[in-house]
Amino acid sequence: MMPVGSPAIGEDFIDREQEIKQILKSLDKDNILLSAPRRFGKTSIMRKLERELSGNGNVVIFLDVESVYSPQRFLTETIMELNEYEEFSEKSGFRNIRNLVKNVQSNFEEIEVPAVFKAKFRNIVEEGLEENWIEKSDSLFKIINSTNERIYFIFDEFPIAIKNMQPSDAEKFLSWFRKLRQTCTNLRFIVGGSVSIERVLRNVGGTNVINDFKVIRVNGFERDVALHIVENVFEDEGWEYTPFLVNKIVDCIGEPYIPYFVSIMLSAIIEEKINTGKAVDENLIDNVYNSRLLGSGCKHYFDPYYKRLKVYYHEMDVKAAKAILGRTSTTDNYPLELAYNAFQQETGSNDYEHFLDLISDLENDFYLEINDGKLNFYSKMLKDWWRIYHGTI
Ligand SMILES: Nc1ncnc2c1ncn2[C@@H]1O[C@H](COP(=O)(O)OP(=O)(O)OP(=O)(O)O)[C@@H](O)[C@H]1O
Ligand SMILES: [Mg+2]
Repeated sequence: MMPVGSPAIGEDFIDREQEIKQILKSLDKDNILLSAPRRFGKTSIMRKLERELSGNGNVVIFLDVESVYSPQRFLTETIMELNEYEEFSEKSGFRNIRNLVKNVQSNFEEIEVPAVFKAKFRNIVEEGLEENWIEKSDSLFKIINSTNERIYFIFDEFPIAIKNMQPSDAEKFLSWFRKLRQTCTNLRFIVGGSVSIERVLRNVGGTNVINDFKVIRVNGFERDVALHIVENVFEDEGWEYTPFLVNKIVDCIGEPYIPYFVSIMLSAIIEEKINTGKAVDENLIDNVYNSRLLGSGCKHYFDPYYKRLKVYYHEMDVKAAKAILGRTSTTDNYPLELAYNAFQQETGSNDYEHFLDLISDLENDFYLEINDGKLNFYSKMLKDWWRIYHGTI
């Protein structure tokens, strides 16, 4: 059964063959930017790539950089992870990372290496990077690059780390990182995150610092994959199978078949079945969807989509975004002109460019899609939830 919450790893990881194949092939030449909204399975894909690449004997550094707030911390965490890879040193011709650290902190030799605990090591590295982090990191990565081995870095939640940095630090870091990608051609980077990188970069010098990345968009599962997952659950749980019921469950989830939504729907059905002992039939499925999943008990699954507007959107935009989403949730094909009226009303601004930026953020964050000047929710299930709790007419 698919897990709910943490990334899908090992046997729980379903499908994504095309994405994995495409990314592995692209990595020959390119660095990768994984683009997808919250809960589409980015981390699961990155973890799968980590397994595939390291299975082939490569050095792969996986780092969740969500709590990183400065270039120095970013680099320190990267060095800490490299440090874990000592066992690869012989195989890859990769020199002992502690020697590399001398580039960062010249008095490093004074410390008894075996006695260096992780936390202390981290402090030493970070202190060493306090001054001249650019030069020090350049020489460090130059050495890493000179091993002539391909070394992969996977940075999850990269946009959050950039957002956490002071804008001037973020700018310096991004331009250093871009130069690194151009000069250290044995290194490959896969970055991804749940926040639209475009919006984050708008405040720190624009997207030209990342326009060399190959963007791979992660979509929901195809319908036949979603059907297959549901069929498997029927089989595993020993429920009486009919194509009608399987299709009904998949229809409740609706397009796009977001992995996380597939998994919460199935878990809710399993729970309902255990609690009531009733057969999994049309009634039970309707009940689970309307009362359980869209009920207050499951609010925590969807609430983050609402709350993150306040965290990641410009203060002035939050009210306008909520008004536009509220109205789009109660109708089909909400006209862009009406959305602009709502924007003007909520912000008191007539700045049409700013309004279009907001719509494009809502599109990039996969709340909305726009076709022929009409707005619709991107996900059927999120729309159903939004209408109940935040819908406005
Ligand atoms: N390939 C997959 N196979 C099975 N389940 C998956 C897969 N991808 C995602 N899921 C389901 O979706 C949930 C979210 O996956 P994951 O954490 O990888 O997404 P994410 O995009 O990194 O999320 P976040 O935006 O919160 O970082 C998982 O808990 C799992 O239930
Ligand atoms: Mg993730």
